Amino acid sequence: MIVTTLNNSEKIAKKIAKEFGCPYSRTKVSAFPDGDLYLKFNSELNKEKLIIVESFQPNSNSALLNVIFAAKTAKDLGAKKVILVVPYLALLRQDKRFNSGECINARIMADLINNSGIDKIITVDPHLHRIEKMNDIFTIQSKNVTANHIIAKFIKRKYRNVAVIGPDWESYQWADEISKEIGVEDTVLEKTRHTSRNVDVEVTKEINIKGKNIVIVDDIISTGNTMIKACQQAKKLGAKTVNAVGVHGLFVEKGYLKMKRAGFDDIVTCNTIEHESNKIDVTEILIEELKKEIPKSK
Ligand code: R5P
Repeated sequence: MIVTTLNNSEKIAKKIAKEFGCPYSRTKVSAFPDGDLYLKFNSELNKEKLIIVESFQPNSNSALLNVIFAAKTAKDLGAKKVILVVPYLALLRQDKRFNSGECINARIMADLINNSGIDKIITVDPHLHRIEKMNDIFTIQSKNVTANHIIAKFIKRKYRNVAVIGPDWESYQWADEISKEIGVEDTVLEKTRHTSRNVDVEVTKEINIKGKNIVIVDDIISTGNTMIKACQQAKKLGAKTVNAVGVHGLFVEKGYLKMKRAGFDDIVTCNTIEHESNKIDVTEILIEELKKEIPKSK
């Protein structure tokens, strides 16, 4: 078995290789002078099981293309099985045609992966909303693991006198499960998305926020605007501190800086996308899933 990465997720990949006692070999990905992709495996793949660990951020579109070129090449070179471990699976948020003529990213991304030679995809907390299950779009074996338990453990260890806020209805699946595990109250805000950069949130179910250490939990932090609006609401209601925990910290358009300036006391993410805010390690839950089909040191 060989573990590889293309451009992202090297730290997780190396830990997975170490756990299974197999080599980690980085795949060379660069470009010809005209920008065309150049990709080269640096290990013999014939009859091998290949694990590609590659987050789809930064650069979601090229990450997808690189993974497809890599998987097809691996099969062409004789790899007997290709497993894609994708800590952050992008392109899921455009999961329906909101306006006529639009492309439904989630379906096309899955279709491309289904036909790329990848045998199984494993990901962490994918943004499943209008598409409810991975196998609604994936015809290959698929598995999503959740970071909820390790996030709850982190919050329990780090903060006292907590209440949890989910900034929008889609965050219910994280906010509710995490607050239950910690044994604290939670509320999910109502979000109106005006554009991809402009949102408003409203408290519809009031809980006791005054004097509490508030933890706002969401799957994706992209521009950070959703988190910032939720933070403003929590402060208005008298929160003692306001802390953000995201599974996937994209922090596009200086999102991290904007959140810090908005007065967050703490900003924490899982390491599905490498960033200085990574304080919760998902490697272990990915390894647990991989162990189900790969006996150690094979
Ligand atoms: C959407 O439903 C997600 O759960 C996040 O709330 C959203 O992606 C956050 O985006 P942004 O950080 O740009 O407000």
